[in-house]
Amino acid sequence: MIKKLLITGANGQIGSELTLAFRKIYGHENVVATDLNPVLRAEIKDNGPTDQLDVLDRKKLESLIDQYQIDAIVHLAAILSAVGEKNSQMAWNVNMNGTINVLEVAREKGIKRIFIPSSIAVFGPTTPRDCTPQDTILQPSTMYGVTKVAGELLGDYYVQKFGMDIRGLRYPGIISHETLPGGGTTDYAVAIFYDAVKHGKYECFLKEDTKLPMMYMPDCLKATTDLFQADFSKLRHHAGFNVGAFSITPQALAESIQKVMPNFEITYKPDFRQAIADSWPNCIDDSAAREEWGWKPQYDLDAMTEEMLRVISEKHRQGLI
Ligand code: NAD
Ligand code: SER
Repeated sequence: MIKKLLITGANGQIGSELTLAFRKIYGHENVVATDLNPVLRAEIKDNGPTDQLDVLDRKKLESLIDQYQIDAIVHLAAILSAVGEKNSQMAWNVNMNGTINVLEVAREKGIKRIFIPSSIAVFGPTTPRDCTPQDTILQPSTMYGVTKVAGELLGDYYVQKFGMDIRGLRYPGIISHETLPGGGTTDYAVAIFYDAVKHGKYECFLKEDTKLPMMYMPDCLKATTDLFQADFSKLRHHAGFNVGAFSITPQALAESIQKVMPNFEITYKPDFRQAIADSWPNCIDDSAAREEWGWKPQYDLDAMTEEMLRVISEKHRQGLI
């Protein structure tokens, strides 16, 4: 039974909502939210313990684990694909050294349960792109992808070698309305909603027919908390489960927005992120997640679009964005 959970990178797109989801399950006082950024979002700061933590600072990680008597870690801190291509040394440093710090400190302190997200970025140009299998070729062409493959391999190694309980999901592009994404290739699928509401048009940095797997945040939270609480003895995979929801092109997303906002316009000006997107799958076979821990997404494209537009329009009306 988990008593005290520490989250790294809690201020990011996923962490800012996942922290609240975990606090609902384990109790507000029992989920310690940390981030490199010392100023955490008010929703997180005001409803449970928080602390500043650079995951490269192993001593501080050790001291927080002792201070709060942590027995599980959700390690979200990372540099994402687009920022990682602009600064590959930083991506390697934060993603690899941060992850090995978390794993090693946990091992030394007897912490067994760790969740570390992976990504569709583990796949590359040599991976089958349609209905990408769970167990397949992992030869990514980005530094971010390299670190995510290594993270999965490390996670599986710590399960086998040290009997630890490491779990991870290969998240697709996550679409949400609370916190903006932190510099990935799938960020267009969030930015499009803000520009639709604010300006009625959007210039997309990917080509209109670039199909990528995506997921709405409520499904991301559900997948994460479901896997986190799944029966370990039933898992045959550990650090890198495929999880799918829906696959879309920018054009399909624009058409979904036009069902609600008929005058919305999209134009296309592909940049360096096009090559990254072209190396990733069109869609994902997530049958292992469905069989081993009962994964089932709830949102399709139009259901997500309606909710995204409703919430972002309301924020705009209130002058919040
Ligand atoms: P994000 O960029 O929005 O947030 C990352 C957070 O990590 C930020 O708050 C940042 O301040 C923090 N951080 C950066 N360097 C740090 C350091 N040295 N020490 C401590 N904190 C640091 O990212 P996200 O989208 O919330 O992603 C969370 C995890 O999910 C990452 O591992 C990412 O690779 C993975 N993921 C995300 C997506 C997605 O679409 N959002 C898709 C696939 C995988
Ligand atoms: N959304 C992430 C990115 O684009 C995928 O890991 O980097």
